[in-house]
Amino acid sequence: MKQLLKIPLLYHLKGMVLGADGCRRAAAERYIRPEAGKRILDIGSGVGGMVSYVMPMDYTGVELSAAYVAYSRGCYKQARFMLGDARNVDFGDADFDVCLCWGVLHHMDEAGCHAMLQRVPGLLGKGGRLIIVEPCIVPGQHWFARWMLAHDRGDHIRTQADNERLVSPYFTHVRSEIREGMLRVPYSFVVIEAWNEAST
Ligand SMILES: C[S@@+](CC[C@H](N)C(=O)[O-])C[C@H]1O[C@@H](n2cnc3c(N)ncnc32)[C@H](O)[C@@H]1O
Repeated sequence: MKQLLKIPLLYHLKGMVLGADGCRRAAAERYIRPEAGKRILDIGSGVGGMVSYVMPMDYTGVELSAAYVAYSRGCYKQARFMLGDARNVDFGDADFDVCLCWGVLHHMDEAGCHAMLQRVPGLLGKGGRLIIVEPCIVPGQHWFARWMLAHDRGDHIRTQADNERLVSPYFTHVRSEIREGMLRVPYSFVVIEAWNEAST
């Protein structure tokens, strides 16, 4: 199953079956609040699943998988996709209003997360925010959610507190909440919003 999800279309279909549409729409409205003229960097953009939900923003995705980038470029002509590692890719004139990082940190060990997160304040313009959406270990969560997490492709699924601890060194403000019921099946996400006072 994990190997099959490397195929872009299958990854896309898995999201549709689980109810990613409603989940992404709700997350975009509540946390991203898309506006024309604003710029978003989607770190680990996968198959471009967020593009439709953040329009009319100016969208840039960066993604490690060449197959995912090729698929995204074929699907979303209105967006820009860069192939590379978000930890060292050159974004040029980076001045983003939102850096989104959905489902990426649990694929990285602590050192990898810090290598990526430490770059983010420098990629954000005035008033810019980092938004992280991650699968999350929550005490007492539904057994099916726990089963899903145990079979995820990422080896580093963390608690709310551990996710916050990763982000905190780089931002003056960090707030997070657990979101259940965003998919068709029992599942737990943590959503983190982080920003720097000086840049607001
Ligand atoms: C679970 S997928 C989530 C994809 C997308 N954000 C979404 O919401 O569907 C995680 C993605 O992060 C990408 N990724 C992991 N580490 C990365 C890195 N260092 N730089 C860029 N992309 C990365 C993976 O290739 C994968 O496509």
